[in-house]
Amino acid sequence: DFGLDHKGGRLPLEVTEATEGPGGLGISKLLSETGYVTLDPGFVNTASCASAVTYIDGDAGILRYRGYPIEELAEKSSFLEVSYLLINGELPTPEQLSAFSEQIQGETLLHERFRSFFAGFPSSAHPMAVSSSAVNALATYHPDTLDPFDPAQVERATALLMAKLPTIAAYAYKTAQGQPLLYPDSSLGYVENFMRMTFGLPTGAYEVDPEVVKILDMLFILHADHEQNCSTSTVRMVGSSNANLYSSVSAGINALWGPLHGGANQAVLEMLEKIHADGGDVASFVNKVKNKEDGVKLMGFGHRVYRNYDPRAAVVKKATRKVLDTLGVSDPLLDLAMQLEEVALADDYFVQRKLYPNVDFYTGVIYKALGFPVNAFTVLFAIGRLPGWIAQWREMINDPATKIGRPRQVYVGSPERHYPA
Ligand code: MLT
Repeated sequence: DFGLDHKGGRLPLEVTEATEGPGGLGISKLLSETGYVTLDPGFVNTASCASAVTYIDGDAGILRYRGYPIEELAEKSSFLEVSYLLINGELPTPEQLSAFSEQIQGETLLHERFRSFFAGFPSSAHPMAVSSSAVNALATYHPDTLDPFDPAQVERATALLMAKLPTIAAYAYKTAQGQPLLYPDSSLGYVENFMRMTFGLPTGAYEVDPEVVKILDMLFILHADHEQNCSTSTVRMVGSSNANLYSSVSAGINALWGPLHGGANQAVLEMLEKIHADGGDVASFVNKVKNKEDGVKLMGFGHRVYRNYDPRAAVVKKATRKVLDTLGVSDPLLDLAMQLEEVALADDYFVQRKLYPNVDFYTGVIYKALGFPVNAFTVLFAIGRLPGWIAQWREMINDPATKIGRPRQVYVGSPERHYPA
């Protein structure tokens, strides 16, 4: 049972006498000739591999990290605990968790020279471009952590990345705002430290509601891994050449940037803002989507894997109301998003196509309420996804069967031609 159809559904294929034996077509031939995904990394489909990190059943809407249901982790765990779980395969003991957290909190500082690195970008620079560049640049400051086959170096690169990405993200924001960079405060928790570096100012104390910290921490958990999506398979692909962890993750950040992947959370908020500016007529917007008028798309709906409600979207939807209540703000965009969901899910067009809200549909409303500008939304996705990328990269590097990724090409160009005499 390892056949997948082109939509990711399972096919009841078995390696049997009938498929493999004398007179049988041969399972590998069958798979390659019919275009099914195979388990050979880099062959037919670059995302194809065996992995023990995340389980998704798109029909039932199930998502588990290392066997634990995501809803349970979102409710009971913390982002650093989930990061440890994803990277190491097991939940940490209290001692392991505090050692992991201390190691990360002790490495949040960036080299002083990074100041001029950030200052070198125009203030209009997209924070995803700044973040991926800065992550790649970490390799230049930590040359003794680049060997993918030295476990101690990988361990340290893991801690450095986990520690420094929030600092990088905060400084990308500060640079765009023209505000001074704040040193990290290692006495603060992971999320609180990030919020302070982002929104704090050198003068005056910065306080953030613990409820808000908890919700952002939970959003990071929900984004922490999602098996072989575009960015994760990119991280694995780049790493399969034995490139170091920083360059592989930097490539993943670039893959995440696109509006069809992590960039969708920015696109959803821009869509909601446009509907609002046009008078908030949700029914007419939905009609335009159905009639494909003016290239209008319902962003944040539908998923390549889920034929059911994305379990992450259900958790985020609940959290959105809670964040707005905690902060005491109201946002007409939340009502618009809820109306859009209601109208779309009552419509056969969306029901038949099994188009449900995905993780990106409500997150933008939360991020906006927390004060993040729209172009920073995808950076928040990247902070959340980091432990998943690291776990997948490590799994790939440690698998002796890993070969360099090389997608198969079917040549469809001209037959042999000769240069005119
Ligand atoms: C993700 O979380 O990576 C997105 O839902 C995209 C995907 O899974 O392909």
